[in-house]
Amino acid sequence: MEHFAFLIHPMDMGHITRKYRMAKKIPEKLVTGTVKRKKPWAISEITGIRSITGKEAMGWFIIVPLLPSQILNLREKYVVKKIVKACEVAKKQGAGIVGLGAFTACVGGAGKDIADATDVAITTGNSYTVSTAIEGAKKAARIMDIDLRNANIAVVGATGSIGKVAAEILAAEAGALYLVGRDQYRLDEVKETIFDSLPEGDYNIIASTDISGMVKQADVIITVTSAIDFVIQPEDIKSGAVVCDVARPRDVAEIVKETRDDVLVIDGGVVRPPGHVDFHFDFGLPPDLALACMAETMILALEGRYEDYTIGRDIRIDQIRDIENLAEKHGFELAGFRSFEKALTDDDIQTIKMNATKVSL
Ligand SMILES: NC(=O)c1ccc[n+]([C@@H]2O[C@H](COP(=O)([O-])OP(=O)(O)OC[C@H]3O[C@@H](n4cnc5c(N)ncnc54)[C@H](OP(=O)(O)O)[C@@H]3O)[C@@H](O)[C@H]2O)c1
Repeated sequence: MEHFAFLIHPMDMGHITRKYRMAKKIPEKLVTGTVKRKKPWAISEITGIRSITGKEAMGWFIIVPLLPSQILNLREKYVVKKIVKACEVAKKQGAGIVGLGAFTACVGGAGKDIADATDVAITTGNSYTVSTAIEGAKKAARIMDIDLRNANIAVVGATGSIGKVAAEILAAEAGALYLVGRDQYRLDEVKETIFDSLPEGDYNIIASTDISGMVKQADVIITVTSAIDFVIQPEDIKSGAVVCDVARPRDVAEIVKETRDDVLVIDGGVVRPPGHVDFHFDFGLPPDLALACMAETMILALEGRYEDYTIGRDIRIDQIRDIENLAEKHGFELAGFRSFEKALTDDDIQTIKMNATKVSL
């Protein structure tokens, strides 16, 4: 039996008030102050992972008691120290590798400072997240009859760990590639790196901070920012477009679900691990499904690869291919389409397609 742990944290005040009802009656500032002072702890066991090779793994969810806004805005040294403490809790439980969940992967040089400060192996899980996001977006595009070679593909959050390498992989396949974010200088740097990595040819790559303007022109959007608020609104999305929302918390406004029945929004990075995984904790997915970053941690544990894996903001394409091969070896696969945390049926997708056709008539 192999052992891993995965760090999670509350995504919003609702996560805290649902667990501790008393918190509803207390001023928010007092609650966040209390959360901030709490120590990390193991909240549940993750059982039932059985590779098709016969190998088994189990793990633990470790809570890092910090909200996204605290992770992004408190002193980084304080946040990193708390994440390192969570890794120590994981190690004490017996984990050989720790996956950094959600915003714990966005600080400390995308896992680098944490890996340097602890002797347990670390991964952000971002390699498999990139792989599954692209696979899901491509599959959805095919269903919506979008030919990538003639399509405008936008990557929102293109300067981030996941966004940058996802854009690099898609550059050669897209009709036009839009690198979208909030910092023009960094976007231009990514654009240059991508041009340097491509074989000779004609490529249409645009870097822009005009999120709404670029999304409006895109047929396929992979959105993967660490923004706390929504970055894509209903009026931004072209009819018939595919949006793969990899971000947690999500980038696409909830209201899109009610107001746009002509666009296909899918939750990125949802995976079915082999066996009957039970997290003994509700993190928003039905039993048997995991996020890709969790899956990467499980895969590395099943391999007994207790070494740092995806660390830092420069993910290599060969690392992604490596984890894809290991995922296949152990029987991990992309889950069916989900949108705003609900499963999408083939009929749902056909209806979206029909609605999009009506809009374009
Ligand atoms: N579904 C899954 O399995 C899974 C797995 C891992 C991660 N995630 C999620 O993926 C997201 C990104 O992770 P990451 O590791 O790639 O993060 P990261 O390296 O920190 O990159 C975040 C990106 O978001 C951009 N950004 C932040 N705030 C923004 C805003 N308000 N408007 C526009 N762009 C903004 C950043 O731009 P700057 O360069 O300007 O800072 C950067 O490009 C997170 O939400 C994370 O929780 C999901």
